[in-house]
Amino acid sequence: MQASEFQLDDFIVYLNHAAVSPWPKRTADAVRAFAEENATWGSRHYPDWVETESRLRQQLQTLINAHSTDEIALLKNTSEALSVVAYGLPWRRGDKIVISNQEFSTNRFVWQSLAKYGVVTQAADLSSAATPEAALIACLDEDTRLLSVSSVQYGTGLRLDLDVLGCACRERGILFCVDAIQSLGALTFDVQRCQADFVMADGHKWMTGPEGIALFYCRAETRDRLDLKQYGWHMVENPGDYDATTWEIAHNARRFECGSPNMVGIHALHASLGVLLEVGMENIQRQVLDNTRCMIEYFERHADRFTLITPREPGRHAGIVTFRPLRENPDSLHASLSAANIACALRGGGIRFSPHFYTPRRQLETALSLLEN
Ligand SMILES: Cc1ncc(COP(=O)(O)O)c(C=O)c1O
Repeated sequence: MQASEFQLDDFIVYLNHAAVSPWPKRTADAVRAFAEENATWGSRHYPDWVETESRLRQQLQTLINAHSTDEIALLKNTSEALSVVAYGLPWRRGDKIVISNQEFSTNRFVWQSLAKYGVVTQAADLSSAATPEAALIACLDEDTRLLSVSSVQYGTGLRLDLDVLGCACRERGILFCVDAIQSLGALTFDVQRCQADFVMADGHKWMTGPEGIALFYCRAETRDRLDLKQYGWHMVENPGDYDATTWEIAHNARRFECGSPNMVGIHALHASLGVLLEVGMENIQRQVLDNTRCMIEYFERHADRFTLITPREPGRHAGIVTFRPLRENPDSLHASLSAANIACALRGGGIRFSPHFYTPRRQLETALSLLEN
């Protein structure tokens, strides 16, 4: 099933899921079918589309083990979801937000933009304590209102222990926000266990969906703490009542979706998650970590030629392995890998490989063997 769902051409070795994933066959078929239906029937079958939308919410609920689909909104992307949080919370001058010093730009810019309200963003140096979690927790003080981290760092591939961080936040009455784009679809995720208040992830990386359709999880108990900044027909309790002269904000996370949904994206992501949930997240995680281990062992064997940037300890990495050649410029090695159709990225001070669970081992070995030339 996995092999038939992923039909990349033989000449490309795709190690770039941490950037943008290829689609499974089922997703491409779903988008083709949706296009065909639009061209022949228009929106005649809109109720079926709404049914797919609601099944997508259920899939996302399952993927993160949320209590209810009432906690799931479908937004445009990770940055939008982070902004809904940043601009929904009531800030006071002197409030502090803690992030890490390895964050992707979005996860810095959004919080730093609140400086105009006197909110301070502190980036913890993850190497300043015995563990990255200890470094983050050391920054939590009486002014801290929110801790925001990526579950897996986009550059180094470092995986954080979310359960430890969530527990520290809960003990201190601090909100916990997780950008899960580099782990959802690659690793199991349990929002109840890690006690996150907010989780966001666009579909186009490890979830193998398209760009522009994102999960936004907002814990039911935290929902009313977010003031809404966007309004429209879709975010009210009765979205079909267009003549209403009075209206109420939806009781659930649909309140964060102001207008018409991204139905193409919904159909596509629904198909992609169908594949992942059929394979099972435990199986996917095992295969992702197997691939990671294979790459880490390679770089350990070739420590005279490469520095491994990704932490090697089990539990500290996910699907990303970043390395730096010692005798060559990473840019030129990246250029020669690209010329050989090895899809990978320059990130985190080196070259980032990010295969997914379905990547054949022989392809991984092909890419690694090219490093020896
Ligand atoms: C950690 C992290 N957050 C967010 C994003 C992308 O955000 P968006 O979904 O808003 O494009 C990336 C993309 O590389 C990322 O690595």
